[in-house]
Amino acid sequence: MNSKFKRTLVTAALPYANGPVHIGHLAGCYLPADIYTRYLRSSGRDVKFICGSDEHGSGITIKAKEEGITPQQVIDKYHSIMNDAFRDFGISFDIYSRTSKKIHHETASEFFKTLYKKGSFTEQVTEQYYDETAKQFLADRYIVGTCPKCANPNAYGDQCEKCGTSLNATDLIEPRSTLSGSKPVLKSTKNWFLPLDKFQPKIKAYLEKHSDWKPTVYGQCKSWLESGDGLQPRAMTRDLDWGIPVPVEGADGKVLYVWFDAPIGYISATKELLPDTWKDYWQNEESRLIHFIGKDNIVFHCIIFPSMLMEHGEFVLPDNVPANEFLNLEGNKISTSKKWAVWLHEYLQDFKDKQDVLRYTLCANAPESKDNDFTWKDFQTKNNSELADILGNFVNRVIVLTNKNYNGIVPEAKEYTKTDLLVLDEVAKAPEKIAEALEKFRFREALAEMMNLARIGNKYLAEQEPWKLIKTDENRVRTIMNISLQIAANLAIVCEPFIPFTSKKLFELLNLSPLKWSSSRNTNNIASGHKIGADNAILFSKIEDAEIALQLEKLDKSRASISTAKQNPPIKAETTFDDFNTMDIRVATITAAEVVPKTDKLLKLTLDTGLDVRTVVSGIAVYYKPENIIGQKVIMLANLAPRKIKGIESQGMILMAENSKGELCFVSPTNKESENGSIVK
Ligand code: 2FM
Ligand code: ZN
Repeated sequence: MNSKFKRTLVTAALPYANGPVHIGHLAGCYLPADIYTRYLRSSGRDVKFICGSDEHGSGITIKAKEEGITPQQVIDKYHSIMNDAFRDFGISFDIYSRTSKKIHHETASEFFKTLYKKGSFTEQVTEQYYDETAKQFLADRYIVGTCPKCANPNAYGDQCEKCGTSLNATDLIEPRSTLSGSKPVLKSTKNWFLPLDKFQPKIKAYLEKHSDWKPTVYGQCKSWLESGDGLQPRAMTRDLDWGIPVPVEGADGKVLYVWFDAPIGYISATKELLPDTWKDYWQNEESRLIHFIGKDNIVFHCIIFPSMLMEHGEFVLPDNVPANEFLNLEGNKISTSKKWAVWLHEYLQDFKDKQDVLRYTLCANAPESKDNDFTWKDFQTKNNSELADILGNFVNRVIVLTNKNYNGIVPEAKEYTKTDLLVLDEVAKAPEKIAEALEKFRFREALAEMMNLARIGNKYLAEQEPWKLIKTDENRVRTIMNISLQIAANLAIVCEPFIPFTSKKLFELLNLSPLKWSSSRNTNNIASGHKIGADNAILFSKIEDAEIALQLEKLDKSRASISTAKQNPPIKAETTFDDFNTMDIRVATITAAEVVPKTDKLLKLTLDTGLDVRTVVSGIAVYYKPENIIGQKVIMLANLAPRKIKGIESQGMILMAENSKGELCFVSPTNKESENGSIVK
């Protein structure tokens, strides 16, 4: 622990209120943040855990359009779903607020005004993309295009989620509007920019003081500073109608950029929680600020928000940003739109009261230093072979034997053997190892050390065999059981940050009031003569193959659509009637068809166009057998310049529709009155 700090403010990224929470969110930031905070609380440290819903930005208005409801209805609906999911999984926020609250609007406006008065912004009229069909400026998620850094074809107007680079919409190659699919035009508008290029030296100095950050985080920041022209100015306002109005004159119809207001949400939520003492956490050098986020948020928390805080001047800067990488699901990227996800509320319907099994599995497989995979098979193994067979089994044996042999009364330890002393020493050292790993944000290692304590207990019981000794050496059994009960009590303490529901049950089984971390170094937490609780000591039931098969079946349905679904491309750029009129499109009938020799995709078609008989080569052999399409009416482009395909002159092209599976189907005039040669117009 860094002794400079008296207080810690832990934040977890404010999730957009536009969809339910899934396992990727939980593993990425909420679970590690919760484990860390629970550990600090248990250790008696002064800590506050802050989060809330991010309710501005284009993600909300786009969702409203998709669902045919208002943005306000979207945020109300998802705020409540997310709030419930976090609560149900034991994410122990001190406050879960919302950025639509008055306190946040005021705090963010004040922050903007302070920077404005200090002259931190540059006010610039620039050309920004505009959708002439939708009649609105395009920014952030309203515009996609190819990322200039990594060539991802679906980068957003403010960030490429694939390589993490922060972008301006004008950086995108071949931009297109997500509202209409059209090619946007450039239009002048005034905005307020943070000149990050000018802040680069102080950001560099700040980052260099934190070279101990996770290599994935530090490395990414360094590469942004060092690559190309370094940091670039970024607009902090947007021409949109959903968000916090820009609080200065001449800014009608403009709102704050969502990534300007969202991190200020950490401040406003702290104010809401602690109206009188919030400054102790934000404006006092003895307070430590830690942001838990996913890797797509690194640039905002390590560069943009610190720049804002530095410019403001009254706030502490983030001391650490232990961002996680991404969690995949059964080998594929988690995607809400493709329904490739495990949502927390659905999980609880299938695995009632098994929150800790998910917490345990996600922590054991946390994407701490690289992307990682969640599989249902592994989830089952973690439950059956670790939680049930190691932790559950140890606790069960201790409780059952104590009840059976001593009526539930903790026996007194008599004389310790060498083995006992070695075990007690290991037990006393375990919390230190766990704490050391947690202090360094190594959650997987910390969890493994916690389970190791249960392993120590299991091995001790297996070697000492009190169930056999009871017939020959009662005193020895008393000592063994006393030691085993001490291990169980200490397990209840150290498992709490990771699996709090289990910790609670274990304390109940032992009939102990919850103990704090400082007691976990003692090996005498449960006094002889103490009566433990009931004997129904099953902490974890086994998960059957059929339950896993059901989850895999659910995913299989989504997998089918992932592998075959092809997104329909957006509408092409506008054309003119004159251009359309240059095309001669006719109704024709296929009168003969054969496979082009030495190919498996091409058919040579003979067409009666009503005016002449033509040969057209078409790539439809995979979809249609020649014998089945004789007499088929088709639409053809009759004045396409002839071209040679496999030595055959193709004199036109038949028009086909491509469905979402990528298959070609005839576009056929079904009305019998449209005879061959009829013009399509
Ligand atoms: O990526 C997201 O879901 C953002 N809403 C995170 C915001 S974090 C913070 F700045 F509020
Ligand atoms: Zn990219």
